[in-house]
Amino acid sequence: MEQLIEQIRAMKQKRDAVILAHYYVDGAIQDVADYVGDSYYLSRVAMEAPNKIIAFCGVRFMAESAKILSPDKTVLMPDSSAGCPMAHMIDESEILRIRAMHDDLSVVCYINSTARVKAASDVCVTSSNAKMIISKIDARYILFVPDRNLGGYLSDFFPDKTFILPSGFCPTHNQISAASVLDLIRENPGAKVLSHPECPREVIEVSDFVGSTSGIIYEAAGSKSDTFIICTEEGVGHQLRKDNPSKKFLFPSATPICPDMKKTTLQNLLDSLTHLRTKIEMREDLRKQALVPLLKMHELAG
Ligand code: 13P
Ligand code: SF4
Repeated sequence: MEQLIEQIRAMKQKRDAVILAHYYVDGAIQDVADYVGDSYYLSRVAMEAPNKIIAFCGVRFMAESAKILSPDKTVLMPDSSAGCPMAHMIDESEILRIRAMHDDLSVVCYINSTARVKAASDVCVTSSNAKMIISKIDARYILFVPDRNLGGYLSDFFPDKTFILPSGFCPTHNQISAASVLDLIRENPGAKVLSHPECPREVIEVSDFVGSTSGIIYEAAGSKSDTFIICTEEGVGHQLRKDNPSKKFLFPSATPICPDMKKTTLQNLLDSLTHLRTKIEMREDLRKQALVPLLKMHELAG
């Protein structure tokens, strides 16, 4: 493993590449990355990094977003099959159909979406900025795609707006049950429940804090509690344990694991940097259309 890490560092230098990793990928990948963060942070870093090559350790929508924002950079995915199943739970024809039904409607797409869905949307959001961005939208109707759990959670903050929520969900978060969280609360009195808004409503209702992956990490670091029940993908535990060695982090059973986030390995990262594969490619007209909601997100999120 040490040898692989050395080879990755050397190849990264040779290529003048930057390695970005999401908190859900394997700990060894997070440790070798230049930047680790949530979807919004990584999208900003990808846009601002001076390097010509970005190796994106995450899933396709993240690498695609980097390419849409920085077309002159080479964006690599170590395993090109790493996708987000939720991103494919809505298509642009459904968006166009609903758009035609309402005048005063804004289409808000979660960044966990395909380029085609982004191209059909007005603004893109992530879990860390969605509330703030929606608060700046005047429209009465919000079509929120594709995550019905995140959309439902957000809708509670905007009683004067009507949310239209098609039925997408994250398979990893959606399987977290309130019963498994309540079991952990009973076994660990005083533990704080920190949840990602992709969780079902019943889990959100028993949570002490709801936020993005980096929001959860920040909350745990600042809290006086010593035990936390973490309702999100288990990869976040790597940073949580590094930052807070004396605190205890528990995950509900069955442990939430995103199989696609685990597809990046040290070996395929090294191969990717060595052979410059797999490059994200996109039709220029599609890229330009998908760029509009992503830029709007960066503008509104400040
Ligand atoms: P955040 O890191 O933005 O909270 O997103 C979670 C996620 O599901 C990424 O796939
Ligand atoms: Fe998609 Fe869920 Fe995996 Fe995130 S954790 S990439 S939302 S399937």
